[in-house]
Amino acid sequence: MKGVWVMGERITVSVIKADIGSLAGHHITHPDTLAAASRVLAEAKTKGLLIDFYVTHVGDDLELIMTHKKGVDHPDIHGLAWNAFKEAAKVAKELKLYAAGQDLLSEAFSGNVRGMGPGVAEMEFEERPAEPIIVFMADKTEPGAFNLPLFRVFADPFNTAGLVIDPKMHDGFKFEILDVYEGKAVTLNAPEELYDILALIGTPGRYIIKRVYRKRDNLIAAVVSSERLNLIAGRYVGKDDPVAIVRAQHGLPAVGEVLEAFAFPHLVAGWMRGSHFGPLMPVSQKDAKCTRFDGPPRIVALGFQLCKGKLIGPADLFDDPAYDYTRRKAMEIAEYIRRHGPFMPHRLGPEEMEYTTLPQVLEKLKDRFVKVEEIPRRR
Ligand code: F6R
Ligand code: MG
Ligand code: MG
Repeated sequence: MKGVWVMGERITVSVIKADIGSLAGHHITHPDTLAAASRVLAEAKTKGLLIDFYVTHVGDDLELIMTHKKGVDHPDIHGLAWNAFKEAAKVAKELKLYAAGQDLLSEAFSGNVRGMGPGVAEMEFEERPAEPIIVFMADKTEPGAFNLPLFRVFADPFNTAGLVIDPKMHDGFKFEILDVYEGKAVTLNAPEELYDILALIGTPGRYIIKRVYRKRDNLIAAVVSSERLNLIAGRYVGKDDPVAIVRAQHGLPAVGEVLEAFAFPHLVAGWMRGSHFGPLMPVSQKDAKCTRFDGPPRIVALGFQLCKGKLIGPADLFDDPAYDYTRRKAMEIAEYIRRHGPFMPHRLGPEEMEYTTLPQVLEKLKDRFVKVEEIPRRR
């Protein structure tokens, strides 16, 4: 029933994002597209489908943060997000924004946005007496970009003091890891299987941390979007800029422990043309726009307190001089790696370049390759 909250009731947080077109290339969303999406969600809130919502952007990605009681993967919620993106894309087309409608890969909605273009991170849980959550949203990178920081948050005591100090966390966490090539998943335990976890997630283009659970009671702690647009579309249509939801505090890593993992601007795949490694730079909402070489890849963290499903906040968590050093370091790394131009390891390896011109170049040159012993030599 609308507006009634029963203690112990489960709520769902859904973060669904899409690039439906942007301003001046792939740089930033237009405010009118956010307004169009907000109108659709506001109507759903009035009707009681949503408890609450917050619409924002990171770079050229439109982000819908929603709370409701329908559970994950619900057709009503996914259909709502789809309609919001459709309305926003309509505006984008009217304004002739760049790549208007790019992530809406199918014309017809079939009950679930998975596999259709938008990225999805959702979790359902019983709201604790105080429930801090962090919504991470990145642009110009891929879901595997979360592997390193989430490992550090939930498995590395040099990052998260609570793993050693807090009895509720001392047993460790379980990592559900996807193999996006095979469409399979495996759940591994930390700390017992740390090295197995690392053996997989060190290949972030293939193995992706999808969910993290607290081991002692299976409480869900984190979820990452894992759609890979380039594989979905069967051709290269851009990296699938990821989102994640992380719960914090009181038997989970503290907000500061979660954010600490982003103080190191590690190299992630994406950046210009989805084809380059570059540092992941944590930024405030006002700096969530990609300029230099369409980047460098950026990440925003918004903190909320949930109140009977209502989103109280947000706090713009990287809007803090404590991250100035990380940003400066990220730009030093960007400057250094850019000098490599089209050379690896700045440019991605050939297996990641499958949907670019590289196969076409190889095809064009194939008849001009001769056996080494047949190379004509001058005497
Ligand atoms: C990367 C991205 C941009 C574009 C680049 C070329 O995710 O969105 O770097 O790949 O601006 O875009 P097109 O091919 O549209 O000119
Ligand atoms: Mg774009
Ligand atoms: Mg983007």
